[in-house]
Amino acid sequence: MLEASRRWRREGLSIGLVPTMGALHAGHMSLVAKACSDNDMVVVSVFVNPIQFGPREDLERYPSSPDRDLELLTKAGVDAVYVPTAAAMYPPGASSRVRVGRVAEPLEGSLRPGHFEGVATVVAKLLNATQPDRAYFGQKDAQQVAVVKRLALDLDTGVEICVCPTVREANGLALSSRNAYLGPHERKAAASLSLSLRWAAEAYAKGEQDQSRLRRGILDILEAEPLAKVAYAELVDPETFGAPGTLAVLAVWIGKTRLIDNHDLAQPFPG
Ligand code: PAF
Repeated sequence: MLEASRRWRREGLSIGLVPTMGALHAGHMSLVAKACSDNDMVVVSVFVNPIQFGPREDLERYPSSPDRDLELLTKAGVDAVYVPTAAAMYPPGASSRVRVGRVAEPLEGSLRPGHFEGVATVVAKLLNATQPDRAYFGQKDAQQVAVVKRLALDLDTGVEICVCPTVREANGLALSSRNAYLGPHERKAAASLSLSLRWAAEAYAKGEQDQSRLRRGILDILEAEPLAKVAYAELVDPETFGAPGTLAVLAVWIGKTRLIDNHDLAQPFPG
């Protein structure tokens, strides 16, 4: 991949990278569309990164649809699809890891130890391999966005991190490859995440700024759903994830599937 990227750069062409783990859906394709409109050349990476999964997580059963992915990417007109193997990414002896620090510690960072180290390491490697001007990430993974922005800045990558809005189903469910795990009842129950965020954005717009009352209202909606079990529901600063702020972030188990969602309450909820 590096050879092609270097050639494009020498020719003065701008490069956009969309990093993915495959099982592409309309959320990914919105990143691809934005990358295609912003750049001369677009690379989409498809790599299920083993080092960002914990030992009891879903690496072995992570959804995969390589033929469909390739078809969608070809139709979208991307210039290269980068599909490294795990052995090529992490050959014997490879031991370097990228640790981003404080923004990677709370919430997802503490509930999924090693997750952001895995994400940061692979993102750094993908940036090096593809030499992009811009890289595209979905707002659905809000803490990942904050981690990647920090990494891009701290490591002097010079890469612009572009964030695209969460794409939702008609019932508000944020698109995620992991939605494939949900049965029909669970899919309905999963709408409680976006319902609670919508409620909070509306309450905020009407003048409710008390963090604990907003959080309590979100929890009340989630806890009223019998199939939902809340891992966390917090209001945080979108950049640091440390201080309190207007970004409502959720992680909720629906049966055996762990879903995340978020919304900045200072913005109207879409739809
Ligand atoms: O968001 C994802 O799909 C992954 O975390 C990423 C950014 C491709 C790194 O493996």
